Amino acid sequence: MLMGQVQPKLIIHGGAGSSLRGKGGVDSVRLSLFRVVEEVYGLLLAGASAQSAVVRGCQLMEDDPRFNAGTGSVLQSDGQIRMSASLMNGSAQRFSGVINVSRVKNPIDLALFLQDASDRILSDHGAAELLRELKLPLHDPLTEIRLQEWIQERAGNFSHEMAGVVAEKELVSEAGRGTIGVVALDSEGRLAVGTSTGGKGFERIGRVSDSATPAGNYATHHAAVSCTGIGEDILEECLAARIVVRVTDGLSLLEALQRSFLEAEQNRRDFGAIALDRTGTIAWGKTSEVLLAAYHDGKQMADTLELDEGLLTGCCTPE
Ligand code: GLY
Repeated sequence: MLMGQVQPKLIIHGGAGSSLRGKGGVDSVRLSLFRVVEEVYGLLLAGASAQSAVVRGCQLMEDDPRFNAGTGSVLQSDGQIRMSASLMNGSAQRFSGVINVSRVKNPIDLALFLQDASDRILSDHGAAELLRELKLPLHDPLTEIRLQEWIQERAGNFSHEMAGVVAEKELVSEAGRGTIGVVALDSEGRLAVGTSTGGKGFERIGRVSDSATPAGNYATHHAAVSCTGIGEDILEECLAARIVVRVTDGLSLLEALQRSFLEAEQNRRDFGAIALDRTGTIAWGKTSEVLLAAYHDGKQMADTLELDEGLLTGCCTPE
């Protein structure tokens, strides 16, 4: 690293939810997360901007059928897939995103295009029109596991609140809160965050997720946060923006998470969040049992897959 440059930092998540059943589940999720961290951290070391690293990380996770975003997204109550994604550039303080878009491989690509547009958040028909204008190839994100999950839920008249957090044969019946998110600090000290989701699964047509709102995905030059979990809970706490504003007002990142997650626990919320600040502190919080997150602190990769279920927050501070 050159003198005067910032040590890049990266944290990603693949959802939050109930305990991953069986060690096989933990190991395979860890492998998927570490693959993404390794590739994207390499880009940051080579000088990529936080925004482009975030977009690449989101693309890789959207392409992994295990996670509930892009390919592998959950089905809504009518059996259709509608995805939402957003991107926020912390230095430009610019937010862009798409809500309930279908038939696209990487919803985050649409959010990236919209970063430079005057209309920066598009929903269903508008997002479909953009897809057509950009001549992106049509893509069917449906996977067999997600189809079977929907058929099973339909037979039970949609009794689960949400679909499985990760698509694994042995895990699919676990209630979960899937979404993917990437937060990066680049070598010039810039922060960016991206979040992408297939939604809760089995929801009403027209339901809007938190992921393409500042409640689920928010950054300034002080801090950046991506959330996962029950979108309604995240929106009602305005979680990502709440944490970032607390850091902007002078709390440390860990203090901001501790205060926000204590309130969330009192309000019986069910979600998780990953975060970075401009000093390079990496942090996470959860009220759910597990948070599927992994990070690179500049020295090594680590993850949050086997944290104590009762633990609300944690962090890794720069030396
Ligand atoms: N956090 C994803 C959703 O609720 O749609």
